[in-house]
Amino acid sequence: MNLSTQYLGLKLSNPLIVGAGPLCDSIESARDLQDAGAAAVVMRSLFEEQIEAEIRALSFNIDTPAESYAEATSYFPNYSEYQLAPDQYLRQIEALKSTLTIPVIASLNGARPGGWIDYARRFEAAGADAVELNLYQLVTRAGVLAGEVESDLIEIVRQVCGSVKVPVSVKISPFHTSPANFALALEHAGAAGVVFFNRFYQPDFDLDEMEVLPQLRLSDSSELLLRLRWLAIVSPQVRLSLSASGGVHSSEDALKALFAGAHTVQVVSALLRHGPHLFPRLLDGIRIWMGEHGYSSVDEFRGAMNLRRCPDPSAYERANYIRILQAWRVTTPREEA
Ligand SMILES: Cc1cc2nc3c(=O)[nH]c(=O)nc-3n(C[C@H](O)[C@H](O)[C@H](O)COP(=O)(O)O)c2cc1C
Repeated sequence: MNLSTQYLGLKLSNPLIVGAGPLCDSIESARDLQDAGAAAVVMRSLFEEQIEAEIRALSFNIDTPAESYAEATSYFPNYSEYQLAPDQYLRQIEALKSTLTIPVIASLNGARPGGWIDYARRFEAAGADAVELNLYQLVTRAGVLAGEVESDLIEIVRQVCGSVKVPVSVKISPFHTSPANFALALEHAGAAGVVFFNRFYQPDFDLDEMEVLPQLRLSDSSELLLRLRWLAIVSPQVRLSLSASGGVHSSEDALKALFAGAHTVQVVSALLRHGPHLFPRLLDGIRIWMGEHGYSSVDEFRGAMNLRRCPDPSAYERANYIRILQAWRVTTPREEA
């Protein structure tokens, strides 16, 4: 059974990779994940705000921590609250590279032009096999035009891709008006891959304290559906490597993402819940399913449920939305009896 896949030009033994997060903060846990079958790892992100704070501190020639220059606003974490300072992050890349045999993907997270972009080059120099650029941004000002936001993001991608030789994947938001067009623009800007999608953490309200509560809940499989739809729509229209991130908890979830057109599936929440032993279970499940359905390689069925190849493309489109709403009937107690 051949589970190997190409992602960002890297040959991986199987499609399961450890998504960006805390799972590779420790070299031991990264090694455990590799031993459990992870085909690649993505490190937690280094954030634009962290790097810019450090740049500001250095330009003021201050040798104390950059804390006092963390951000003009107190809304962002203090410098010391970040798990890895920029230089520690580079050392972590080196340490992971010297321990692991699977590819190490470093993650850079930002959405505005600035000196932070230079860290892609430093990631490469430290040995990263690829850069995942997370374009997480929330535009809250009504005067900002969607097209301007996208042009700025694409310019950032162009700069990052122009500064490194290693492949760059871009982790995008699901909330673009035309995600397929945005993915295509990223391809033209030099990206080698796109990760579907960033997960937005929705704040809740505490009605007693009248506070907005930030919260992080781990995902479940229902979150995969948004990824499946857009992977299926975008995959036949681009040459990019595609990765699913969000809601992969079972071998069925992983298979569905591959059928939609993903080259890899990233897992975070399920690994945080179950630990590295999850991976052998997922890999066994994929192998068993492939055997039962007569497939000998992942390439044979990747994209078989995409917009071009699935039996009913209207299932991805507006037609299906109307059909679903129209099909719902309210049954009265008398009808049920
Ligand atoms: C504790 C935690 C930390 C995370 N940190 C990052 C990060 O630093 N950079 C990033 O791009 N995504 C980060 N993510 C998002 C994950 O990479 C992933 O996109 C998201 O959790 C959805 O995948 P899942 O359903 O497998 O959890 C984090 C997620 C969790 C739960």
